[in-house]
Amino acid sequence: MNRPKIILITHQKGGVGKSTLVANLALNLAKNALVAIVDLDHQGSLISLQGQFENIQIYPATTMISDLKDINANFILLDSPPYLLENTVELVKISDVIIVPTKASLLDIIAISRTLDILISSTTERNKILITLNMIKANTTLTNTVFRELKKHNLDIAKTRISDLVDFTRSISNKGLITKKAQYQIDALTKEILIKLI
Ligand SMILES: Nc1ncnc2c1ncn2[C@@H]1O[C@H](COP(=O)(O)OP(=O)(O)OP(=O)(O)O)[C@@H](O)[C@H]1O
Ligand SMILES: [Mg+2]
Repeated sequence: MNRPKIILITHQKGGVGKSTLVANLALNLAKNALVAIVDLDHQGSLISLQGQFENIQIYPATTMISDLKDINANFILLDSPPYLLENTVELVKISDVIIVPTKASLLDIIAISRTLDILISSTTERNKILITLNMIKANTTLTNTVFRELKKHNLDIAKTRISDLVDFTRSISNKGLITKKAQYQIDALTKEILIKLI
């Protein structure tokens, strides 16, 4: 089998939806591929939920980068904690796509700058970074203002915007999404990620 594609989901800010996105992207990809998750968070939020992920092997934070090549999977999703890891630079280098989820507020725009600076200084491949707007509230023009600010980083921003939906919160205990709207969004984001991988 080819080397697994590595998808890093990272942001130094907590609560932006990293683990929820990892879970839903993994469940979606696992419909057609072999998928593993590495829970780099020592709080082990995802690993404690292994039962919710029947076909997905979840590896703990103690997993070494050198162990990744031995994982039997087409895709490995790395869920980051809300702080810098000692090996962040190395993780950025070995990842094929890097998703940076952010909420759409001015404070979030300020917070994302530092994470983006670290990512950019760790790789020459800026095009593997994909900023993803998450937890977007319905009927707000703020998102467009935030989008304009984000564009100044000159990095790719996902066309798919993930809404603030109860289905995403519940997906962790429901073994996936149940509404068409949420599933449509995750399908669209999955497609954008796959296109980045070609
Ligand atoms: N699209 C969404 N719609 C509604 N709620 C969401 C969405 N994404 C995440 N949440 C909720 O937001 C909270 C934070 O999400 P999550 O734990 O995935 O963030 P995180 O970035 O992994 O946090 P941490 O940095 O602490 O690991 C959770 O309660 C989760 O259910
Ligand atoms: Mg998390």
